[in-house]
Amino acid sequence: MERTAVYPGFFDPITNGHVDIILRGLKLFDSIIIAVLKNPKKEALFSTKERVTMIEEIFADQPRIEIQVFGGLLVEFVRSHKGRIVIRGLRAVSDFEYELQMALMNRQLDPDVETLYMMPSVHYSFLSSNIVKEVVSMGGSVAGLVPEIVEDRLKEKLRQGKLSISQ
Ligand code: PNS
Repeated sequence: MERTAVYPGFFDPITNGHVDIILRGLKLFDSIIIAVLKNPKKEALFSTKERVTMIEEIFADQPRIEIQVFGGLLVEFVRSHKGRIVIRGLRAVSDFEYELQMALMNRQLDPDVETLYMMPSVHYSFLSSNIVKEVVSMGGSVAGLVPEIVEDRLKEKLRQGKLSISQ
């Protein structure tokens, strides 16, 4: 039986920390569904389509990765794909409380869905989409911290005046 895991997130934008977790996940699972949260209430720099397009380009040569958009409850998405495992990255102790709350709530909602945590490479343990956006908004470089396509799109947003410090 094929082992599939769901890797959910907002990915605004995807960073090398996310990519690192996905590649680690591919060592454990036959395929991974990257589930991109479509959330009209949460303000995003990139539209859902832009976030998905970047991820598609990054994993264009990886047939074991599927990209899907989801709204509503994660456990329902997982169930609808006949999945059982959710992968999440855990960077530091500061992530723990939120992740514990989320994993236990998901378990409450569906006891059959299990959350698996993985540590990213130490090189990315300080990295988040928000800190990447903040650095770029102030003219700093994020080379090596995000895939090249993401770096290009961030610079484009900056040129267009769409990347403000509050993002
Ligand atoms: O990239 P993020 O913001 O850490 O991802 C958070 C995400 C998308 C995994 C989380 O917000 C989520 O699962 N949202 C879907 C709504 C849901 O299922 N809520 C109940 C469990 S917390």
